[in-house]
Amino acid sequence: MQRFVRGFKKGPELPISSDYDDEFKPKRPRRSTSNMVRRSFLVAGMLIFLGFVIYMVVGGQGNLRNQRNQGSPRSQRSQKSQRAQKNQGYQGYQGDSTLYKAQSEKSSGSSDFPAIQSGLTEMASDSDPMPDTVHYFDMKNYEGSAVDKSNDQRVLLLIPLRNGEKVLPLMFRNMMNMTYNHDLVDVAFLVSDCSKGDKTLETLSKYTKALQQQTLLPLLEKKHKRVVGSGVFGSSDMYEKYLPEDYKERVRKAFSPPYHDQYAKPFHNIEIFQKDFGQVIGQGFSDRHDVKIQGIRRKLMGRARNWLLSAALKPYHSWVYWRDADIETSPGDILQFMMKFAGDFDVVVPNVWRPLPTFLGNEQPYDLNSWIESDAAISLAHSLDEDDVIVEGYAEYPTWRAHLAYIRDPQGNPDEIVDLDGVGGVSILAKAQVFRNGANFPAFTFMNHAETEAFGKMVKRMGFRVGGLPHYTIWHIYEPSQDDLQEISKLERKKRRFGSSK
Ligand SMILES: *[C@@H]1O[C@H](CO)[C@@H](O)[C@H](O)[C@H]1NC(C)=O
Repeated sequence: MQRFVRGFKKGPELPISSDYDDEFKPKRPRRSTSNMVRRSFLVAGMLIFLGFVIYMVVGGQGNLRNQRNQGSPRSQRSQKSQRAQKNQGYQGYQGDSTLYKAQSEKSSGSSDFPAIQSGLTEMASDSDPMPDTVHYFDMKNYEGSAVDKSNDQRVLLLIPLRNGEKVLPLMFRNMMNMTYNHDLVDVAFLVSDCSKGDKTLETLSKYTKALQQQTLLPLLEKKHKRVVGSGVFGSSDMYEKYLPEDYKERVRKAFSPPYHDQYAKPFHNIEIFQKDFGQVIGQGFSDRHDVKIQGIRRKLMGRARNWLLSAALKPYHSWVYWRDADIETSPGDILQFMMKFAGDFDVVVPNVWRPLPTFLGNEQPYDLNSWIESDAAISLAHSLDEDDVIVEGYAEYPTWRAHLAYIRDPQGNPDEIVDLDGVGGVSILAKAQVFRNGANFPAFTFMNHAETEAFGKMVKRMGFRVGGLPHYTIWHIYEPSQDDLQEISKLERKKRRFGSSK
């Protein structure tokens, strides 16, 4: 069943319980007198309307024309539609019309856009303005370009969530840390297929409300203090003792003041979508990485992405930024940084690594889905069925591709960019026009791939350019595997027995 939750400003009392279906049903009026009251209002309304009609007919043509010019019937209609929007908790368009006005003011003052100017004058002059139910967008203004000082490009930040309760504090701190003007960023979450008892939607709602009311930072800091931990943000797990000291120090710094001036600012608009797609498997680490089910899983994730995108993308978005919730640290200016490459590239991804316990070598590439195509993988694809999905990083599929992750040199130039064929979904910045032209995250086999890797392939086929930044790295959280946990408890036992420190 499909469920949408929207409009925090209007409805802070979100349907938060484990039994959503009941909560989402419209509530019946409870007062017993309400029927009578409603009936008398109806009669009064009809009388007023009758009077109005008589007045209009008697008042004659001149009056009627005046009314139209003042937009009175129109504004009645728009009031009604605004009320309807309010009832649905819909907020989006209020902001848009402001932007639309700003855009049209800007363009009518500029001689660079004669087409826009004449178009707008034709459609809406000052003496006869467009009704506010009509919106005009010159899509030329939303193409996505390299950032300059007067940048006002709006970004849609898309975050899919599944059983994500635990990483939400982390995710919100990463959102807040973005130095891109928050008022130019719209955020849309998709919550899907969470396990029974999982509180992702509830927690997300709570934090989102606090974020927009600028009370989130104290809330998260209080929560953080309550956690008896060894330093890494938001968790008290034993394994964190085994992460490299310098990594932990970096994380500690990343979550400490001073914060930049955008930090606590609300975002322009936030939407939360809830929809289940059905799940093939659990979210446990070993479950998730079985090659046989990867293809199916990736197609389901592709479907979820497409839903989120098509529900949230508005005509005024210039950029779409896909971001996973379980990123621990990432540079605050990641949006501006990646937008720099817009002159040559339409899709850009950073490198994604993760820390490892010291006994496993300190760090490791995380995202192997960003790669450069190889001859071996092309012949492999030719040898497969049309419906087979190649997944990266498995012995079953020796692709011999160059992975963005492995090209990394920690001392390398962060501005270096390489052409990619497949991309991973952890952090994708794409011009919105890429999607408007029809690209998506295939939920079917496309060129023997699915989801984000197929997206990379598709986008290239459409003539766009995909880039990866090998020396510009964001850090994924470390989730220990069963083996890692066993090793850790062995080390802990030894430590207790011998009382040694390491
Ligand atoms: C926030 O941004 C700063 C500056 O780019 C960065 O050093 C820090 O790691 C970021 N924090 C997080 C939590 O990513």
